[in-house]
Amino acid sequence: MTAPLKPSASTTVDVALGERAYDIIIGRDVLKSLGARIAALRPGVRAAIVTDRTVAGYWLKPTEAALSEAGIPTSAVVVEEGEGSKSYAVLEKVCEALIEARIERNDLVIALGGGVVGDLAGFAAAILRRGVDFVQVPTSLLAQVDSSVGGKTGINSPRGKNLVGAFHQPVLVVADTAVLDTLAPRQFRAGYAEVAKYGLLGDEAFFSWLEANHADIFAGGAAREHAIATSCRAKAAIVARDERETGERALLNLGHTFGHALEAATGFSDRLFHGEGVAVGMVLAAEFSAQLGMIPQSDVSRVQHHLAAVGLPTHLQDIAGFAQEGLADADALLALMAQDKKVKRGRLTFILLEAIGRAVIAPDIQPSLVRDFLAHKLAQKN
Ligand SMILES: NC(=O)c1ccc[n+]([C@@H]2O[C@H](COP(=O)([O-])OP(=O)(O)OC[C@H]3O[C@@H](n4cnc5c(N)ncnc54)[C@H](O)[C@@H]3O)[C@@H](O)[C@H]2O)c1
Ligand SMILES: [Zn+2]
Repeated sequence: MTAPLKPSASTTVDVALGERAYDIIIGRDVLKSLGARIAALRPGVRAAIVTDRTVAGYWLKPTEAALSEAGIPTSAVVVEEGEGSKSYAVLEKVCEALIEARIERNDLVIALGGGVVGDLAGFAAAILRRGVDFVQVPTSLLAQVDSSVGGKTGINSPRGKNLVGAFHQPVLVVADTAVLDTLAPRQFRAGYAEVAKYGLLGDEAFFSWLEANHADIFAGGAAREHAIATSCRAKAAIVARDERETGERALLNLGHTFGHALEAATGFSDRLFHGEGVAVGMVLAAEFSAQLGMIPQSDVSRVQHHLAAVGLPTHLQDIAGFAQEGLADADALLALMAQDKKVKRGRLTFILLEAIGRAVIAPDIQPSLVRDFLAHKLAQKN
C-alpha cells in the first residue's frame, strides 16, 4: 500500500451479484467513454439523463456529448438540487418526464449527480414500467464511494428519510474522478468521511494509507482514484455477501446511528452535512467502544486526529450553534436514535470498533448506557 501510485487510465471494480452483477469504472475522464460503454452493454437503447440544476450546469453537456458520439438518443430531466427533491412530488415529475420521453422497458435511465439524484432516479427507474435499467454516473465523492453502489434507491417521507424505496441495482457505474473538481470543498470533505469509514470498519492498512495520503486525495490524481476504488471494492464485497442488509451490510452504518441523530437534531440542514454527521458519529462510536473496554483511548485519538486533519468536525461542540439551541440534550438525542430504523424491542443496535479496521455489530445496547455516555460527552469542553 505504500508503493507510489502510478496514474492509470481507469480502474474497474466488479460488483459480484450473479445475474445482477455490474462494473464500477473509476478514473479521470472516464465520462467520455460513457456512450461507448452503454452502446456495448445495451445496443440500440434510448437514454434519459436525470440530473440536478447545479450538476447540469457543469456536466450535462459533456454527458450528452459522450452519448451522442456513440449514437445514443438522449433526453434530460433536470430537478432542483438538494434533499428536497427526494419527494413524492419530484418523483412524479421525473416518472412523467420519462414516460413523455418514451423511455420503455428496454431503455435506460442515467442518474447524473450526487446521492440525491442517484436515489431519486434509481427509484424512478425501479418503478417505471415495473422496472427499467439504470446507470449511475455519480458526481459527488459521497455518491462515488457509497450511494451509487449497492442498489438502495428511494425518496423521503415527510415522516422520515429514505422510508419509501426499493432495491434496484444499476447495470453500470461510471465514476469520473475529474468531475469532483467542480464539487464544493465542504461537500468533498463530507464525502471523505465515508472513505475513512471503510478503513475504520474493515481495513487498517487502508486507514493508515489515508492518514499518510489524504492531501493527495483532495488534490486529485492517482491517490484519489485509489481511494475511491478501494472504497468501492470494500462496499461491493459487503453488498455481494449481504445485498438486502440482513447482517453484515449493517457494518456500513458505522458512525451513522449517532450521525443520523445529529442530522435530525440540526433539521437536516446545511449546518451539518451527512458526512459531517458521520465524522462526529464515528468519533463517538470509537469513544463509546473505548468506554466499553473494546479499544484503547489511543485508537479514539487516532480516529479523531485523522478526521480533524482533513477539516471535518469531530466533536458535538464543533456543530454550528449546537449548544445554543437546546439540542445539546442527551435525552433528545437518544429519542432521535430510537426513531431511527436500527431499534429492536427497546434495544439499540450500534456499530462499534474492536480495533481500527475491525467493526462489529452490537445489537443489544442498553439505551441508558448511551444516554449517560452522551451526557458525559456534552458536559465536556472538547
Ligand atoms: N443509496 C444509498 O446507498 C445511499 C448511501 C448514502 C447516502 N445516500 C443519500 O445520498 C444523499 C446525499 O448525497 P450527496 O452528498 O451526494 O448530496 P447531493 O446529491 O445533494 O449533492 C450535494 C450537492 O453537491 C452538488 N454537486 C454534486 N456533484 C457536483 C459536482 N460534480 N460539481 C458541483 N456540484 C455538485 C449537488 O448539486 C448538491 O447541491 C442523501 O439523500 C442520502 O440519503 C444514499
Ligand atoms: Zn453515510
